[in-house]
Amino acid sequence: MMKQCAVILAAGDGKRMRSAHPKVLCEVLEEPMLGWILDSVTGAGFSPKEIGIVIGNGAGEVTDYLAKRGFLQTYLQSERKGTGHAVRQALPLIEQSENVLVFNGDMPFVDAETILSALELHQKNKNGVTVVSAKIAEPFGYGRIFRGADGEFLSIIEQKNCTEEQARIAEINAGVYWFDGKALRAALEKLAPNPLSGEYYLTDTVELIRAAGGRAECFRAKNADLVLGANSRADLLALNELARKRVIEKHLENGVEFLCTDGVLIGKDVKIGRDTKIFPNTILRGTTEIGEDCAIGPASILENCRVGNGVVLNAVQAYSAEIHDHVKAGPFVHLRPGTILHEGVKIGDFVEVKNSEVGENTAIAHLTYIGDSDVGRGVNFGCGCVTANYDGINKYRTVIGDHAFIGCNTNLIAPVEIGENATTGAGSTITGNIPADSLAVERADTRIIEHWEKNSKRIKK
Ligand code: UD1
Ligand code: CA
Repeated sequence: MMKQCAVILAAGDGKRMRSAHPKVLCEVLEEPMLGWILDSVTGAGFSPKEIGIVIGNGAGEVTDYLAKRGFLQTYLQSERKGTGHAVRQALPLIEQSENVLVFNGDMPFVDAETILSALELHQKNKNGVTVVSAKIAEPFGYGRIFRGADGEFLSIIEQKNCTEEQARIAEINAGVYWFDGKALRAALEKLAPNPLSGEYYLTDTVELIRAAGGRAECFRAKNADLVLGANSRADLLALNELARKRVIEKHLENGVEFLCTDGVLIGKDVKIGRDTKIFPNTILRGTTEIGEDCAIGPASILENCRVGNGVVLNAVQAYSAEIHDHVKAGPFVHLRPGTILHEGVKIGDFVEVKNSEVGENTAIAHLTYIGDSDVGRGVNFGCGCVTANYDGINKYRTVIGDHAFIGCNTNLIAPVEIGENATTGAGSTITGNIPADSLAVERADTRIIEHWEKNSKRIKK
């Protein structure tokens, strides 16, 4: 017998979302709602083997996402017959568990703290079921918490089944429940389809558990925002806006500066040091960590990047890059995975760096591509340099020693090594290694043809 398990309902069709993809993969702050839930559930102490996910609509896509995150226990609900029917698919898991957490897949903000506090109440009062609830301003669409005259929790009434009076109840079911495993099993056996919709409602288990002598209670969430779900694109936008503001507020409290938050999207796991300024239209994703005293943006994207202190990035897109202290980059710079820029590197407009390490204080000022390269310290690139790293079949590295000077429009045909302090003449295509302290020029002499203009047939008088 396991102490606990969690069943996440992720099979629904999500018709109201009008998406070709499953609803639970719809994103809040660029992370699927299902991802938020997995974070909350694991944050509450569940291990992957205690978590079962009911899949159905878009099962393949959902499974791929789950596998990427290391969750392999899924239960297929091949026909969508309601939330009660969905939970039934996970019976093999439920049968082994004392306490069962059921979590709708479209409630991304219910957090670990809420899950654990609800469990505490559930165990303390030996409840058959504990329903997470909240009072919200616009309860339309949610199941209402129906109480007797003495306030006793009697049942959940779905929107479709509400009388006008019941529809005015502001306390709603968040779609997150703790069940006693045995009580849930017994109730699922008795569950009948709803006469109006023909669906098996999980919410009907409240009455069934009470009828069998079990206790039903609500755990009121601390904050009404926690229980907001998303059925439509409009709901999803509202959740995004809420999450976006909440993340920005957290950074403000930590001493991060925003002059204007228009177009600023910061993933929930991003870390930012104090006195760093974030300018408009900046998107920070994934595991990005930024140090202190930086200026990031405007118009920048950083995904899974490590950024030091005092870094200035203006209109930079960087993916899995490591950017050390006092680097300046931009505008219009693309840093692709595997880029490491050491302290004091300067990168100017229209430069792309990929899978390359660039040493301290090196300057790559304009219109240059550095790919698969090891560049030393204090190197200077002129305008329009290219490391030709790919021959159509294989990729090769370019190695450039400290203080080398790469003249404008140099092509470095890899594999190639440029020695320390060496210089390449502007316009050279370098195909062989250049020793240290030497100049390499590969360039035809200028030919002068005199009186060319006068003799030219191209010029009509
Ligand atoms: C449900 C609750 C409602 C609660 C609301 C909170 C029921 C009957 N109603 O309504 O009381 O206020 O959530 O958001 O439970 N799903 C399946 N298989 C199915 C049907 C649904 O896996 O056959 C999944 C969906 O993917 C979704 C979750 O269950 O993640 C909830 O389903 P949804 O249709 O969104 O229920 P609501 O109408 O929002
Ligand atoms: Ca819903």
